[in-house]
Amino acid sequence: MADHPVYPVGLRLAGRRVVVLGGGQVAQRRLPALLAAGADIVLVSPSATPSVEAMATSGEIHWERRRYAEGDLAGAWYALIATTDPEANTRASAEAERSRVWCVRADDAHAATAWTPATGRSEGVTVAVLTTEPEGRDPRRSAALRDAIVEGLRDGTLSAPQHRTRVPGVALVGGGPGDPDLITVRGRRLLAEADVVVADRLGPRDLLAELPPHVEVIDAAKIPYGRFMAQEAINAALIEHARAGRAVVRLKGGDPFVFGRGMEEAEALAEAGIPCTVVPGISSSISVPGAVGIPVTHRGVAHEFAVVSGHVAPDDDRSLVDWPALARLRGTLVVLMGVDKIGAIAQTLVANGREPHTPVALIQEGTTAAQRRVDATLATVADTVVAEGIRPPAVIVIGEVVALGGTLRTTS
Ligand SMILES: C[S@@+](CC[C@H](N)C(=O)[O-])C[C@H]1O[C@@H](n2cnc3c(N)ncnc32)[C@H](O)[C@@H]1O
Repeated sequence: MADHPVYPVGLRLAGRRVVVLGGGQVAQRRLPALLAAGADIVLVSPSATPSVEAMATSGEIHWERRRYAEGDLAGAWYALIATTDPEANTRASAEAERSRVWCVRADDAHAATAWTPATGRSEGVTVAVLTTEPEGRDPRRSAALRDAIVEGLRDGTLSAPQHRTRVPGVALVGGGPGDPDLITVRGRRLLAEADVVVADRLGPRDLLAELPPHVEVIDAAKIPYGRFMAQEAINAALIEHARAGRAVVRLKGGDPFVFGRGMEEAEALAEAGIPCTVVPGISSSISVPGAVGIPVTHRGVAHEFAVVSGHVAPDDDRSLVDWPALARLRGTLVVLMGVDKIGAIAQTLVANGREPHTPVALIQEGTTAAQRRVDATLATVADTVVAEGIRPPAVIVIGEVVALGGTLRTTS
């Protein structure tokens, strides 16, 4: 039998009985995929790992707490044999052979009638890799190949453009705070499939350099807006390119819906009847403090954090922020777009009860090569910003969490 290659097949297990013998690590690893396939799973095992036990408790699998007994495979379409008792495994695989139930064996691949491939999924494609020849099974090589294929599909470096069903419309993609590794997998794939990318100044600009030459990259800051407001001009450009049948990515810094005007763009697209996908991103409000070792919450220190825009001063009529209420918070305050107004903000917070010695961190261009952190207090921050020449983009963190992590060395 060893001379023949395996015959690959996709089992459609939904609603079909699958028997799993043994509730250890092997079952724990395999059960999620069997559950995802909709299998009707019976676990026979005297014990189980906490994760497997949780699947039984939640009713995802049926667990019989006992050892394997002859006849357990009756009615099964497929069996996973993974007990710690080799003799029980041998008896079970003999039963599987007699009953013509395909079975995998964790302890002896050669005694099994089926092998589990290394599998992965990316947007409608299931990848299954089995290395079988010439040296026999090599699960590590299978897993490495699977990873390479799935990664390629996800980041768009492996694609089949001629067969691709392109989704017309606009994807509002949150690009994360700046480090190109901090975009989501989905965002990166959509970027790789785009015909047109409309990008902001903030976000992972390095990724734009990787785009193939046919992709039109438009700098949102440079869209001519004549009689329009800048935002209306951006909306108009998105609509125009999408109407021309192009796959458009609107690449934004952080998350599109955190001070990103993402909803305005989504609404304009909806009004124009253009399909729009929103891909969340890692917001600078949490990730930039994290990049310098500041957690926005910490047990016993901060049980809340608020993210506010500081683009208008507290006494400005246009401000929608209740600064006196924020001054009463004991937790963390994260201010975006606040470099210019930090003096007035700090003054208002102190005037309304926050301690002047409350620690403040200013993190400029977080997660990029130019990242820089400067610390101050509410009493000193206005002078520090000037003295240190802090410029936007910067995230300002106010609260006791700033003083944590002195012994931490963060690397990115
Ligand atoms: C218009 S808001 C957009 C926020 C974005 N949507 C997000 O979720 O991160 C721009 C502000 O975000 C902050 N910001 C964004 N990226 C940053 C970075 N890499 N380093 C420091 N601050 C950043 C700055 O406060 C900047 O003024």
